[in-house]
Amino acid sequence: MLDIAAVRALVRTVPDFPEPGVMFRDITPLVADAQGLRSAVRHLAHRARAGGADAIAGMEARGFIFGAAVAVELGIGFVPIRKPGKIPVATLGIDYALEYGTDRLEIDPTAVTPGQRIAIVDDLIATGGTAIAAAQLMRRAGAAVDQALFVIDLPDLQGAERLRSAGLTVEALME
Ligand code: PRP
Ligand code: HPA
Repeated sequence: MLDIAAVRALVRTVPDFPEPGVMFRDITPLVADAQGLRSAVRHLAHRARAGGADAIAGMEARGFIFGAAVAVELGIGFVPIRKPGKIPVATLGIDYALEYGTDRLEIDPTAVTPGQRIAIVDDLIATGGTAIAAAQLMRRAGAAVDQALFVIDLPDLQGAERLRSAGLTVEALME
């Protein structure tokens, strides 16, 4: 298994994407690398196991890559948190603010068992808006959500602090 420094070396930084002045942290080379992908998943799974998760929830789209893999690694289920209009049954949804405008996440509430301990997994936390909305949604569905795990934290944006204020334990493999 690769150590965190080697996993970190597989994250690509792309300047000026999606707009000038932004340094975009891109996981594509990491997930394209067999050892890198497996190592990132195992590091996350180790933390989720220590936190006592009995299911994983991940956000479309990049959260699906890591979240589902962590669930398989731990032998537990995965709850997909989707962008709007994708789920064919009655949904539970949450609208949340972006810098400009709003966005929405939805789940199939029957995928959550009341009282289940769910860890949120995503590739990256920036402002934390997506992860806070995801945690609120899972709590409304009856889950106990006390852990959020990321491959990358962008600490300047203070998303992890916001999540901790909402009562979650936050861990990221790298900053
Ligand atoms: C990215 C990333 C997180 C979120 C982080 O997803 O994968 O889910 O943004 O930002 P925040 O902490 O400011 O909310 P994006 O919405 O770009 O979707 P994608 O996974 O479909 O690319
Ligand atoms: N990389 C990937 N997703 C993101 C980033 C980033 O740097 N910032 C906000 N979402």
